[in-house]
Amino acid sequence: MPCTVVVGGFFGDEGKGKMISYLAVKDRVDVAARGGVGTNAGHSVTWNQRTYRLRMIPSAFPNPGTKLLIGPGVLVDPTVLLKEIDEVKAAHRMRCDPNCAIIEPEHIREDQESVHLKGKIGTTGTGCGPCNVDRIKRVVKTAVDVPALKDYLADVPKLVNDAIGEGKSVLLEGTQGTFLSLYHGTYPYVTSKDVTASSICADVGVGPTKVDEVLLVFKAYVTRVGAGPLDGELSEQDVDSRGWTERGTVTGRRRRAAPFNFDLARRAVMLNGATCCAITKLDIVFPECRGKTNFDSLSSSATDFIRRVETETKIPVRLIGTGPSLEEVIDRRNGSI
Ligand code: GTP
Ligand code: IMP
Ligand code: MG
Repeated sequence: MPCTVVVGGFFGDEGKGKMISYLAVKDRVDVAARGGVGTNAGHSVTWNQRTYRLRMIPSAFPNPGTKLLIGPGVLVDPTVLLKEIDEVKAAHRMRCDPNCAIIEPEHIREDQESVHLKGKIGTTGTGCGPCNVDRIKRVVKTAVDVPALKDYLADVPKLVNDAIGEGKSVLLEGTQGTFLSLYHGTYPYVTSKDVTASSICADVGVGPTKVDEVLLVFKAYVTRVGAGPLDGELSEQDVDSRGWTERGTVTGRRRRAAPFNFDLARRAVMLNGATCCAITKLDIVFPECRGKTNFDSLSSSATDFIRRVETETKIPVRLIGTGPSLEEVIDRRNGSI
């Protein structure tokens, strides 16, 4: 697994955090670099009986030997980053690029008070959209301007490319999901930049020729927070009766839900150039699969579903999530992706 990009196949919250943390520990990944928008992301990592909900630190943190980096394309909120560095005790191995743009209190206020952003689009209110606007206007502060970040600055593209050149294992961590992309999503109900695999690479400064695998993460059903179209959307009552109820990691909002969408999945494979995929939350759709770590022990309805995903998307399902914890994974790789 020399250089793998991990991205979301639907509308974010597919469980990228859990799959990335599994890969980091299992493959003893050398370097993990975060791309994506900024603190609008919230990844849950359940490890050692504890659930971490992180917005800035790469989800690979459970492996103590992994260098944790934030690429220059990502927006950094220093208050959130410093708190998380403390929470996971990662000061010695956490670095962010001096060109990361800084989210300031004014960006957060604007995001939360704007009738258009918070009201119509249903943004996360974390200041990401207004910060990206200032970045494009070229008036934003960058990490080099923040004294509290001084000890954490490093040339992230150089660190990542050197690691790739030395044959080390590198994970590029995407956030959000394909259909929240500013270019490829359900505009205007989208986030403030592109979030497909090509952009995640650009966020951390890795060129397309350096990428070996693109791992697309799907949930076994589709969820969406905030406004915008969701084909096949179920009523709240139906969602609850299926046991699919979820709440957002960052905002606590209820996630809307629909059955797995094969059309969206095929389009996500195309837009990301995916070479393989992961399916999370199989245990929620097929409760008898909870905690299983062996493909052969799944029920026939669960294996039929996985095989249908492979037939329709034409890519292999290499990883399957059967519970929230890092260990609850069926790994169908041959050693690596
Ligand atoms: P963003 O970066 O914000 O898009 O989030 P994410 O893709 O990292 O996902 P997030 O952690 O927000 O949501 C996924 C939820 O599903 C979390 O509550 C996870 O703990 C949970 N989860 C992930 N995989 C599995 C699984 O296989 N089974 C079960 N039961 N829960 C899972
Ligand atoms: P923003 O990125 O905060 O501007 O929000 C724009 C849209 O993207 C809203 O519908 C949000 O709910 C959604 N969104 C942004 N980040 C995430 C995420 O990490 N998971 C799920 N939805 C997200
Ligand atoms: Mg999330």
